[in-house]
Amino acid sequence: MVSEKIRSMMDSSSFIRKMFETGAKLKQEFGEENVYDFSLGNPAMDPPENFTKVLLEKAADHHMHRYMPNAGYLDVRGKVAEYISSEQQTVIQANNVVMTSGAGGALNTVLKTLINPGDKIIASIPCFMEYKFYCDNHGGELDLVEGQANFNLDIKKIEQAITKKTAAVIINSPNNPSGRIYPEETINSLASMLTSKSKEIGRTIYLISDEPYRKIVYDGIKVPSVMDAYKNSIVCTSYSKDLSIPGERIGWLTVNPEAEDYISLINRIVLCNRILGYVNATALMQRTVAELQGVSVDIELYRKKRDLLAKKLAEFGYKFKKPQGTFYFFVEAHEGDDMRIVDLLKEERILVVPGRGFSLHGYFRIAYCVKDSVIEGSLAGFKRTAEKLGLKQDNK
Ligand SMILES: Cc1ncc(COP(=O)(O)O)c(C=O)c1O
Repeated sequence: MVSEKIRSMMDSSSFIRKMFETGAKLKQEFGEENVYDFSLGNPAMDPPENFTKVLLEKAADHHMHRYMPNAGYLDVRGKVAEYISSEQQTVIQANNVVMTSGAGGALNTVLKTLINPGDKIIASIPCFMEYKFYCDNHGGELDLVEGQANFNLDIKKIEQAITKKTAAVIINSPNNPSGRIYPEETINSLASMLTSKSKEIGRTIYLISDEPYRKIVYDGIKVPSVMDAYKNSIVCTSYSKDLSIPGERIGWLTVNPEAEDYISLINRIVLCNRILGYVNATALMQRTVAELQGVSVDIELYRKKRDLLAKKLAEFGYKFKKPQGTFYFFVEAHEGDDMRIVDLLKEERILVVPGRGFSLHGYFRIAYCVKDSVIEGSLAGFKRTAEKLGLKQDNK
């Protein structure tokens, strides 16, 4: 007898995965090159050249495959800390950093550490819906609040959602799926609201900042530092997207050294990283990414893909806000019907994810971390679909 809860989770499980399976079927039937799969944030771009070079060098070092401290190698954490200090404009040291199994591993470790049974974690929609499962894994519940129409956080709504049960707020900027970067004023007003609400409810509300897209930004926009703004902050991230290595499961988390009860917090986090079964992040990948601090795939290539799609989608009559970061477009669904447009695009062998997969009906997500040929091949289908829906007329 398997868990009833897991059975129901399977039924309601992520649209993204469902699209992935549909894609596999279509590819079998029509051939890979005739399916335009924009469903998953699984980068098709090769990792930077240096990644493979460093990986091979490290693989040749045969003394490095043993267990290690659960937080990771101290020298690796030192190199990561040095980089974070400049990125977050805060002094971060090796012992403030824990190497993790991707951002997903980091988030689970942090949530396990913070959540008491029945606690709530607030997130703003649209958001990455794996958060719901991650919270549930540790006896918590995701509490979703509406964002603004321009996809910025609505601080008032977050404030209204806070109760004595609130353990943390999770934010994700640059945001999957909207591509929005929350501006500095927003982060600062979130920070001051959390400070006063923590006092009011008599418990520390942590700010968890999920930042795997921090390096994938355009037009010189800077991602503000949460560490600088709020002392009870924890950053979770990975190299999945910026080095194009999601299958390698490597990332880190860092706890603000100014956080209340810092020492017990970090020690508990390290324990949770161990007892969740991650034990420690993979040795070879830790050694490799340590040498690649600040390195990323060529963001200019993503910018070109974004600009091509933005030009063509606008020309066809689709409405969207140009992403400031990430490799996602979050496009308005005609008459708010996300399933209809997803189905129409599927007829063109174009796979996208309905907005409801991010708790916001009325949109669909295009993940453009694909080869240029996929974008070029899809354009005729996007155009025909726009014509079927009469989008051009709408825009006139
Ligand atoms: C917002 C967000 N957070 C976390 C993750 C998990 O990434 P990782 O591969 O580092 O576990 C993803 C992956 O798509 C994501 O989009």
